[in-house]
Amino acid sequence: MNNCFVELKDISDERGSLVVIENLKEIPFEVKRVYYLYNLRDDKARGFHAHKILNQAFLCLNGSCKVLLDDGENQTIYEMNAPNQMLLCKNKIWHKMFDFSDNCIFLVLADQEYHEDDYIRNYQDFLGTVKDEKND
Ligand code: TYD
Repeated sequence: MNNCFVELKDISDERGSLVVIENLKEIPFEVKRVYYLYNLRDDKARGFHAHKILNQAFLCLNGSCKVLLDDGENQTIYEMNAPNQMLLCKNKIWHKMFDFSDNCIFLVLADQEYHEDDYIRNYQDFLGTVKDEKND
């Protein structure tokens, strides 16, 4: 899986809009865990970690926010402002979510259950991990 910004198909009619995400179709993995963030503040960024094996998909279901993805060499900032946008964030990517609008609801679909030992919470450790991988 690669990091990428996906525009999900929006099935709209006069009653409103509907978006579908099925395992291994719109999303390139099997979802094992769903969590979401709300009551967010524009002056409090979140994330600041990478995962060793976890892959995730980010959706901003309400409002807007920005997401920074960092592979250890390049940093890209994505603006999320529509509920049919999905940002794939693979493992070993340092990420940060910030600039949350009022009422932002940030949904995460993940391919693993929660394990604290899957987190890399120190940026230097993260850089070391991606460097070691490149040299393997
Ligand atoms: P964390 O992943 O650090 O949040 P964020 O990346 O949004 O800043 O998680 C915050 C806290 O919630 C931390 O104590 C771990 C806990 N947590 C769980 O217990 N289960 C989960 O599935 C997640 C994502 C976090």
